[in-house]
Amino acid sequence: MDVLMNSISTTPPLAADLISFIEGLPKAELHLHIEGTLEPELLFALAQRNNVELPYASVEELRAAYAFTDLQSFLDLYYAGAAVLQTEQDFYDMTMAYIARSRADNVRHSEIFFDPQTHTERGIGIDVVFAGIARALREARDRHGFSSAMIMSFLRHLSEEEAFATLEQALPLRAQYRDLWIGIGLDSAERGNPPEKFARVFARCRELGFHLVAHAGEEGPPEYVRDALDVLHVERIDHGVRSEEDPALMKRLAQQRIPLTVCPLSNLKLCVVDDMRKHNLARMLHAGLAVTVNSDDPAYFGGYMNANFLAVAASLRLSRTELVMLARNAFEATFLPAAAKQQLLLELDGYCMAH
Ligand code: ADE
Ligand code: ZN
Repeated sequence: MDVLMNSISTTPPLAADLISFIEGLPKAELHLHIEGTLEPELLFALAQRNNVELPYASVEELRAAYAFTDLQSFLDLYYAGAAVLQTEQDFYDMTMAYIARSRADNVRHSEIFFDPQTHTERGIGIDVVFAGIARALREARDRHGFSSAMIMSFLRHLSEEEAFATLEQALPLRAQYRDLWIGIGLDSAERGNPPEKFARVFARCRELGFHLVAHAGEEGPPEYVRDALDVLHVERIDHGVRSEEDPALMKRLAQQRIPLTVCPLSNLKLCVVDDMRKHNLARMLHAGLAVTVNSDDPAYFGGYMNANFLAVAASLRLSRTELVMLARNAFEATFLPAAAKQQLLLELDGYCMAH
C-alpha cells in the first residue's frame, strides 16, 4: 500500500468532476480472478466457519502481509488464502461479494477466471466450485441484470497432463453451465512455464469451441506473448505489458487489435512497474493497441475497477477521451454475442453524450 500511496500522492489530485465521470462510466471487466476477490474479512469469516487455522492473528495482520516483491510472493499467499474455500456456499459468498463491489463500480459485464486446480488439489470437488460461483452469477443476472461469463484457467506451474485431467473432470458439467462457461485461460507462475507447455490442451479446448485467453508478458518476455498467439491461438492477452520491449510485436498487436487486459494496481503491487507514473498503459493505447483496464486480484492489490481507473487517470493524467477509449476497448473485447455487445456500447455512447 505504501508503494501505491507514494506514487499516487505525488501526483496532483483529480478534479471532482473527473472522479465522478470515472465512477459512473459503464465498464466491462475482462481480467478478474474470483479467488483474488477474497477480502481478509471474508477470509477470516470462512476460516472460522470451516475450522481452518490461519497463521495470522487478525485481519490487520493478514493485510499487513500483502507486501509483495514479485508474482510468486503473491501467489504463495493467494493459494494459502484459498484454502478457506470449502463448500458451495463459500464460493457463492465470495462471488456475491465481488458482484456487489462491481455493481457499485458500474461494471456492466465481467468475464471471470476461476482456478479449479487450486481447489481440487485440496480435495474439493470441481462441481462444488462451479456450482457456488454459477449460483451467484445467475442470481445477479436475474435480480440485477449483471452480465457475466466464466473462464476456467489452468495453473501453468502444474503439468499439461494435470490440465488435461482438469478438463476431463469439467467437461461433464459443460451442458449444465453452458450459459456461463465460455472460455479457457492460463495463469499462475509465468517464468519458466512458457505457452508451448500447454499447446496440446489448448488445441483440444479450441476444438471444443471455447474462447481462449492466456496470461503472457506480465513477468515473462515478449516471446511468451507471441507464442500465446501463435501456439495457443488465444484471442486476448492477459497483461501483455512487456510486449513494449518488442517493436515488431507492438505493431502486430496494434494491427490485429488483439486486446490486452492490463491490470495497473496489480502491476504496481507485484513490482512489474515501480511507479504508476511510469506505467506504459497510455503509451500502448496511443500506439493503437486495444488496451483495457482490469483489477486482477482486487482484494490483494488495493482496489476494484474504479480504483484502477482512478489510479491511472491520476498518475498518467488521462483525459475523458482516453478513459472512454479504455472502456470502449473492453466492451469490444468481450466474448458477448454481437447484439449484447452492441447494447453495452450504446449504453457507453449514451453516458458520454450525457457527460
Ligand atoms: N493468478 C492470480 N493472479 C495472477 C496474476 N496476476 N498472474 C498470474 N497468475 C495469477
Ligand atoms: Zn491475472
